[in-house]
Amino acid sequence: GDVRKIRASLLEWYDENQRDLPWRRRTKLGDGKNVKEEEEKRAYGVWVSEVMLQQTRVQTVIDYYNRWMQKWPTLQHLAQASLEEVNEMWAGLGYYRRARFLLEGAKMIVAGESGFPNTVSTLRKVPGIGDYTAGAIASIVFKEVVPVVDGNVVRVLARLKAISANPKDKMTVKNFWKLAAQLVDPSRPGDFNQSLMELGATLCTPFNPSCSSCPISSQCRAFYNSKSDESVMVTDY
Ligand code: ADE
Repeated sequence: GDVRKIRASLLEWYDENQRDLPWRRRTKLGDGKNVKEEEEKRAYGVWVSEVMLQQTRVQTVIDYYNRWMQKWPTLQHLAQASLEEVNEMWAGLGYYRRARFLLEGAKMIVAGESGFPNTVSTLRKVPGIGDYTAGAIASIVFKEVVPVVDGNVVRVLARLKAISANPKDKMTVKNFWKLAAQLVDPSRPGDFNQSLMELGATLCTPFNPSCSSCPISSQCRAFYNSKSDESVMVTDY
């Protein structure tokens, strides 16, 4: 497929179809008067939302996210919270370790005095921030040209390139990070990464994908195969 065509089609689709989510509003806020402060505010929102989204559906996360931001509107507010308060806020989301990491990370960043880490390599030093969360924050907020791969992205890319591989295999996941790194749009990395996740969540679903509405079906190997060979279904990836 044509990389430039894939990027352009995905971004155009994302511009028109992205869901209106509270952490996306936060990423668009800002009057440009205090860039550092605005960036930190956006990074904090993306961080909290991405951690919540790792285990929970978007519809559920919206309420948790809004309650969290009402109680701790900034990183500095969170850094003052107690573990008990954070756990109470997290109740129902599971994996309480993630809530503790958010609190510890907030304390660490606030104590560090060099602001919110703004690259994948510095973000990875924060407790609980792995490749996924680091890539999301770095690309969405700080425009670092890095990929983000979650389960949705693996499925989209597997279909796009007609790759059948065991998604639980470490090597498989590594290869998808490599593939995503080649695809990510250098001028809009955050929007590009979110467009892949969004496509996987809304159209390129595990079963009955909506290929007829898909912006990149003309570039999609699995779509092509399933049209030419009825024995190969798009859902097989
Ligand atoms: N799922 C997890 N994070 C997401 C994001 N930033 N955009 C769309 N879907 C997501």
